[in-house]
Amino acid sequence: MPPPSSNILWCRDGSEFARAAADHVAALLARKPQAAIALPTGQTPLGLYAELVARAAAQRLAAAQARFFNLDDYLGLSVEHPLSYARFLREHFLTPAGVPEEHIRLLRGDAIGIETECRDYEAAIAAAGGLDLAILGLGTNGHIGFNEPDSDWSAQTHVVCLSPETRATHVAQTQGKFAIPQYGITVGIATIIAAREILLLVAGSTKERALAAFRRGIPDPQWPVTALLTHRNLTVLAAAELQSAAAEGVMAPR
Ligand code: GLP
Repeated sequence: MPPPSSNILWCRDGSEFARAAADHVAALLARKPQAAIALPTGQTPLGLYAELVARAAAQRLAAAQARFFNLDDYLGLSVEHPLSYARFLREHFLTPAGVPEEHIRLLRGDAIGIETECRDYEAAIAAAGGLDLAILGLGTNGHIGFNEPDSDWSAQTHVVCLSPETRATHVAQTQGKFAIPQYGITVGIATIIAAREILLLVAGSTKERALAAFRRGIPDPQWPVTALLTHRNLTVLAAAELQSAAAEGVMAPR
């Protein structure tokens, strides 16, 4: 396994981070305009989305033919709910970038038959030819999508029980204004690993331990992000402020 630290591109500030991530997406779309891309939610990709929207407005991004999916959402929330990841993605990227509705498939967290929804979602990804790119954020506990520590790495889209750490993080992020659901729905680690290309975005001081675990280079079910270590086409963009804090994985053990 290659040493993971050699694959990390360190970005000095938010605009460099956003530009580098957008360049990555734009390069894929230039190669393959109809690419299937899975999108993350959270604070980390906001700069990327703003940059992609600006490029689309300036006719410098060919996103009209691409197909977009999301990684995860809360279980039980309608797509209009303020906490819904589907709503977030529409507001911050899909609508302002002008992505046609027929090219958007987002998880329905409030689907009546949730098992059917999980299967249909995998079928929709397969019908798009599989994911060309999965763009990932990183949870403070190392989760990717909503695949929490000790997840089954062979799982596809499924329902998950959110960890107390994840829920506490989200309570803080929403200033306690909303009750955070106990469950989520997420593409599985197998779905993510099957993507032809992965772009992992890491920013914020709360990610130090998870990034350190990744940099240790040892697959560890306690740190789901380490499932990415074996992927052949993985790019990691990380905020430079994390470079020394997470050096050589010294902070990783739980
Ligand atoms: C949530 C989402 C993840 C996301 C993570 C990081 O837990 N389920 O998909 O990657 O938050 O969010 P942020 O970028 O806000 O730190």
